Amino acid sequence: MEKIIDESIQGDALSLKKDKKNTRNLYIESFGCAMNFSDSEIVASILANEGFNTTQELELADLVLVNTCSIREKAEATVRKRLEKFNAIKKDRPHLKVGVLGCMAERLKSKLLEEEKIVDMVVGPDAYKDLPNLIQEIDEGRDAVNVVLSKDETYGDISPVRLNSNGVSAFVSITRGCDNMCTFCVVPFTRGRERSRDPQSIIDEVNDLWDKGYREITLLGQNVDSYLWYGGGLKKDFAKASEMQIATAVDFSDLLDMVALAQPGMRIRFSTSNPQDMNLDVIKTMAKHRNICNHIHLPVQSGSNRILKEMNRLHTIEEYFALIDDIKKIIPDMALSHDMISGFPTETEEDHQATLAVLDYVKYDYGYMFSYSERPGTMAARKMKDDVPNEVKQRRLSEIIALQREHCMLRTKRHVGKIQEILIEGTSKKDDTMWRGRNSQNVVAVFPKENYKLGDFVNVKINDCTSATLIGEAVGLSEN
Ligand code: SAH
Ligand code: F3S
Repeated sequence: MEKIIDESIQGDALSLKKDKKNTRNLYIESFGCAMNFSDSEIVASILANEGFNTTQELELADLVLVNTCSIREKAEATVRKRLEKFNAIKKDRPHLKVGVLGCMAERLKSKLLEEEKIVDMVVGPDAYKDLPNLIQEIDEGRDAVNVVLSKDETYGDISPVRLNSNGVSAFVSITRGCDNMCTFCVVPFTRGRERSRDPQSIIDEVNDLWDKGYREITLLGQNVDSYLWYGGGLKKDFAKASEMQIATAVDFSDLLDMVALAQPGMRIRFSTSNPQDMNLDVIKTMAKHRNICNHIHLPVQSGSNRILKEMNRLHTIEEYFALIDDIKKIIPDMALSHDMISGFPTETEEDHQATLAVLDYVKYDYGYMFSYSERPGTMAARKMKDDVPNEVKQRRLSEIIALQREHCMLRTKRHVGKIQEILIEGTSKKDDTMWRGRNSQNVVAVFPKENYKLGDFVNVKINDCTSATLIGEAVGLSEN
């Protein structure tokens, strides 16, 4: 994914334990953000009751589902390439059916059926519960489409199967959709209006994960700080809520508190925060609970007030700096990461310098950096000319990346010499005698395995580092 999900698992096919009753094979692969990977777990859970086992071998599939991303043009091009591959397989397996899920399905709707002859089924992100009916349609030889966006679907009642999981960390989605309407972004169009999930169903899921041995969860939403439960329904309709609903409403800081208390041994992360909705109550709740990790992903997109306004980001850079200062005052050890876009329409050299100045001011631990990609239907595409030449976008992007790289080194180095609590998540990719895990600030650490095991919280003395990895040795189990 762009973020949270590591680039190397893009397009990974998911697989889970086989149920003998099931007779057909589902091959499901995911692109894009953590929400898509999490949604694929919901889809696999729904289809497990419809006679499907998952397979990781495309050649054995009876149904191929691809959960897609529309955030940049390149993301869509990758999916179209995959469809070509499925087409080749279909030559040997004529009964094979192919469905497109997620943001591309929502953006292109039935146009996808015309443009990509291989596709039999198009299902938007709010329509997964309709999959049993849609599959029946395609089984009977008809194309099937459901791209209806919903006011209240949160899949809160579906217990997702955990696919390709390390058994230690899991995603839990808490909101769906986004109301922010950043002018460059396709998400509000593909994922609909913002709604929050019932806190009780979130707590139940977290408790269940703990019982199954999970030790870290990431609460997911396009804009988690905007979480608001007042009995169900769209965030925008909160304006019409009753006094009772207002009095008993649960916001993000309340939710964090509830989750942290429900499972004090579980590590808690969340993503993504938006500066305009993040408030100090959240930081205070983070400070109150040792099991909430000290990391905030706080995208800013640009350092120029003029560009922020054109992007419809509802804060100034001065307000952003004030927020960062307050965060660091309350939790000095906080890790911060960002998303940045180079070459938004009308961006000048001066605007670009302002972006570099933000990096210098905050000294982020890491970031995800992109060049602007015009998305059809967005405000920016309708109202602004994509007028920054590609070479300029790319040059500015590489300057941003180079500066961020220096800061990564600087920020990672600050952990050297310290003892840090690491949650073991798996074996090191480079050396199978070493464990791999992360510290509270989300930095990867590796250390000799000794007798420790997967899921242990271990105190590790950090002796050395590269720009993104800490290298150390265990000094004992942590108190957690
Ligand atoms: N709030 C969301 C943002 C999703 S998009 C979340 O959960 O993270 C992730 C990032 O992609 C954005 O923060 C932005 O930096 C980048 N992005 C979105 N639209 C883009 C576009 N049209 N061109 C380039 N980058 C884009
Ligand atoms: Fe996109 Fe802005 Fe929402 S980046 S997901 S519209 S917060």
